[in-house]
Amino acid sequence: MAELDAFARRFAARLQAGDVVALRGPLGAGKTTLVRAIVRALHGTDDAVSSPTFVFRHTYPGTPPVEHVDLYRIENAAGELPELGLEDAFAADRIVFVEWPERAEAWLPAERIEVSIDGSGEGPRTVRHQRR
Ligand SMILES: Nc1ncnc2c1ncn2[C@@H]1O[C@H](COP(=O)(O)OP(=O)(O)OP(=O)(O)O)[C@@H](O)[C@H]1O
Ligand SMILES: [Mg+2]
Repeated sequence: MAELDAFARRFAARLQAGDVVALRGPLGAGKTTLVRAIVRALHGTDDAVSSPTFVFRHTYPGTPPVEHVDLYRIENAAGELPELGLEDAFAADRIVFVEWPERAEAWLPAERIEVSIDGSGEGPRTVRHQRR
């Protein structure tokens, strides 16, 4: 996955604390794999600290800290998200990746980076991205 790592380094170089990245793509597209490659590019390692209460949130301590929030299991965003205590993940000192942002479109900050991955299995991936 040399290409993945090369892309992750270029992408990581343009990220800054406070950025929110919405990661789209079907099951198995490589969203989680891309987050980890970007974290390695930023921090040199991808050792995560799992949230003690929520399995869908991983914090990667480093400079800046990176949060990875996976909303796949969210069914009712309006009802569930306020109870999840995710506000501190969206702090100005860190970068947040949101996997399955489709689950909570209205909840996402308007200013964010949109990333969309096409491809599956062992095949090549195409990644589109846009800051908005
Ligand atoms: N760039 C890539 N090149 C080749 N294989 C890849 C690439 N990215 C991911 N994969 C492989 O695809 C599989 C799925 O990756 P991953 O778990 O990151 O997908 P995902 O989009 O997070 O899926 P889910 O929606 O289920 O969470 C893994 O086996 C991974 O090794
Ligand atoms: Mg995933």
